[in-house]
Amino acid sequence: MAQERRGEWGSKIGFILAAAGSAVGLGNVWKFPYITGENGGGLFVIIYLICIVLVGLPIMIGEVMLGRMTQRSPVGAFRKLDGEKSLWQGVGWLGVLSGFVILSYYSVVAGWALEYVVIAAKGEMSSGNPALMSERFGEVSGDGPGATLWHVAFMALTVAIVIGGVQKGVEIAARVLMPLLLLMFLALLVYATTLEGFGEGFNFVFGFHTDKLGAGSILEALGHSFFTLSVGMGAMLTYGSYLRKDDDIIGASVAITIIDTLVAIMACLVLFPITFTYGMEPEAGPSLVFTNIPMAFAQIPGSTIWALIFFLLLVFAALTSAISLLEVCSAYFVDELGWSRTLAVPVCGLTITLLGVPSALTFSTATFGSGMEAAIGKSWFDLFDYVSSNWMLPLCGLGISVFAAWKLGDEARRVQFEAGSTLGKLQGLYVLWLQVLRYVVPAAIVVVMLHAIGLF
Ligand code: PFF
Ligand code: NA
Repeated sequence: MAQERRGEWGSKIGFILAAAGSAVGLGNVWKFPYITGENGGGLFVIIYLICIVLVGLPIMIGEVMLGRMTQRSPVGAFRKLDGEKSLWQGVGWLGVLSGFVILSYYSVVAGWALEYVVIAAKGEMSSGNPALMSERFGEVSGDGPGATLWHVAFMALTVAIVIGGVQKGVEIAARVLMPLLLLMFLALLVYATTLEGFGEGFNFVFGFHTDKLGAGSILEALGHSFFTLSVGMGAMLTYGSYLRKDDDIIGASVAITIIDTLVAIMACLVLFPITFTYGMEPEAGPSLVFTNIPMAFAQIPGSTIWALIFFLLLVFAALTSAISLLEVCSAYFVDELGWSRTLAVPVCGLTITLLGVPSALTFSTATFGSGMEAAIGKSWFDLFDYVSSNWMLPLCGLGISVFAAWKLGDEARRVQFEAGSTLGKLQGLYVLWLQVLRYVVPAAIVVVMLHAIGLF
């Protein structure tokens, strides 16, 4: 019965589109460049790429697999496989909780992007003055009530779409908008190569330098590899639960990982040349994309329309990610507590909206910003980001990987791995993946975490 109630993806490529839509978002365009800047580029990027290949991708495969095997959302998936009283359900709960925390501040950033659509439409991005652009961002993020309203608007949009059901909207949005976003970055990249600061920017991203690499950098790179791929909280598990028996999990996971990584690297290769060309700050933090992109557009004809398209695409990318986050949160109440979708989605949406208000106020009030920073070393906004992506996702990911690698029956797991997949049937690939998931992934997560708390 439960099986019949569940939707399936409308087409074979539906899952790839939706999962890629979940993966590609603010994490690639906003967060990755700014943390790369803060961590000095170079070595940080390399560590991140290693984490993607060795940790993120193997977990994604395991996570999607658990979804398809159980046709459940995270908590129910573990119960179905391990029994009513299973403690593994805790891994699912942690994932659902991460969804609430992440979306609460994610939506604040998406709200800024939404406001930038309006700012772009008004033609305010043609000035080509870095100081002015950075001041403008200060106004947007520093206006507490304004930022809160845009956050509410973005959440309302997300709720409205998720109430409608996952398949339709997301698939269409991703099919059209993802290629457009890639094209946009390709064009920007071509433009960036003509800039005086391209060499310096390129070297910043790929050069081998350790100067800014702090104690927390490795944890940050690891945490971001989870965040950017949307793994370690059950989003991929939930999307995987709508897959058909003969869909290719391995090919899809590899494709999603490649697309996500491409967008992130392209974003850096666009933003840092701009940074160095105009004497801006690589360590600008969360403002980076919002000040640099207008600089690029100001130099070319039709700046207003380009900036408008860019921020619209960014909002859509954020939206397809936010949808997957809200989907995980509400699926818990629908699948586990028997709520109707029309009740669960608004209730979760409202909770997340409220939870996000302190993040929206972080840049305007001392209480959630400088005051908290003085007291505990992090603003509310940074705290939510730090705890969810650097601790909750890797911990939950650890649980998912250990379960998939050690608890699942080998027979069933291999069938999942090979089903419909040319890549999955490649000689030795299954065993390689399993060994990585069994030993490398847990060891890496545990070692990085112990390192981060200063044990060695
Ligand atoms: N992967 C998204 C991004 O890079 O913007 C963020 C995200 C979406 C994280 C969904 C986690 C998630 F479940
Ligand atoms: Na991403």
